[in-house]
Amino acid sequence: MNPSAPTLPERLRRAAEAAAETYGTPVYLLDWNAVAAEAAAISAAFEDAQGFYAMKANPLLTLLARLAGQGWGFEAVSAGELERAQRAAPGAPVVLNGPGKTPAELDLAAGLGAVISLDALDEIGRVPRGASVLLRVNPGLEPHTHPHLATGAANAKFGLLPADLDAALAATSRAGLKLLGLHVHIGSLISAPGDYAQAFDVVSGLAVRSGPLPVLDIGGGFGPDLDLPRVAALAAQAAAAFQARVWLEPGRRLVARAGLLVARVRSVKRTGRPFVILDAGMTELIRPMLYGAEHPIVSLARAPEGARPAAWVVAGPACESGDILGQSVPLADPRPGDLLAVLVAGAYGSSMASGYLTRGRPPEVILDGEGLSLARRREEPADLIALETFRPIADI
Ligand code: LLP
Repeated sequence: MNPSAPTLPERLRRAAEAAAETYGTPVYLLDWNAVAAEAAAISAAFEDAQGFYAMKANPLLTLLARLAGQGWGFEAVSAGELERAQRAAPGAPVVLNGPGKTPAELDLAAGLGAVISLDALDEIGRVPRGASVLLRVNPGLEPHTHPHLATGAANAKFGLLPADLDAALAATSRAGLKLLGLHVHIGSLISAPGDYAQAFDVVSGLAVRSGPLPVLDIGGGFGPDLDLPRVAALAAQAAAAFQARVWLEPGRRLVARAGLLVARVRSVKRTGRPFVILDAGMTELIRPMLYGAEHPIVSLARAPEGARPAAWVVAGPACESGDILGQSVPLADPRPGDLLAVLVAGAYGSSMASGYLTRGRPPEVILDGEGLSLARRREEPADLIALETFRPIADI
């Protein structure tokens, strides 16, 4: 059992209760003040850099619009994300990343003036002439993170190996593309500045072959406790090798701690273990199941006088035994109807929620100071079913 049970500040507790009351459970809550503070801290650490918020972490339009207002551009990996950037903040700078971009995505990005980060040699010929591009380098390193989150390893699918750089430079120029610089993204949830230092060493070593370039894009991946000023200093040093400006693409760091998932206890039961069953689980927050992520879970209920915390398994309602949000959560006398908050859920929580079991994705609510506003309504089963073509047998 986790001996130091996390607590929720009173303002968030009240907001979580109000969100559950007004919009029902499960519901995601995002504290804009906390996002703004993280965004400002990143901007302060990376003084002269251009930030591109990786919207995959949480792509709410209202969030994008607010961040654009603070000078952020966006990192996108699909036509859908390009469309979000366009709708929320037309004209904000955008980088399109990812392997296997479709011709339609490349055309759309070029048409919008987005910068395209090229991920493979065979992609270069598919980009419309005149488009601005980066070359994504695979530095061949194993950062200290979950294997699913390590993108900079030589056996990962991402980027071009340094050995292919000369061929890529030549092909880029033949294709009439505007090469802005190199791009490197080593992975997500990185906590050791040394992982960045190693990648930057590999990339800055390529400057002798590329010559000066205006941009060095260092990707994202900033873990919650990563020393940002340290990474900023390393990035500035690497960029100097190209006489480049630093671009960065953090996602998680801006939103993770600002978000929580509020759920209601539906059942308290014992099988071989003591279970608290919530109305949220793997369909709302898949990170514990996919990466073994440990999200702190706190109860919003006032514990009865004298009740002592015991370790509970907190599970969702899905028909899968892996549907467990917390293996050993300290709770004092949990009861059906209690509200629980799953913390540090602002990144890759709602954005990875699924339509599995036709439950519908939860709504998302923004907290401004003390005020709540609905950023996305609940997805109802009818919304999911409406996409299907179906005629009852009798009509055929
Ligand atoms: N840039 C590129 C090219 C990326 O692939 C990513 C994340 C980012 C930036 C932003 O990384 P961040 O700063 O958010 O770590 N679903 C996983 C995380 C996958 C990240 C994928 N790429 C999770 O829930 O932990």
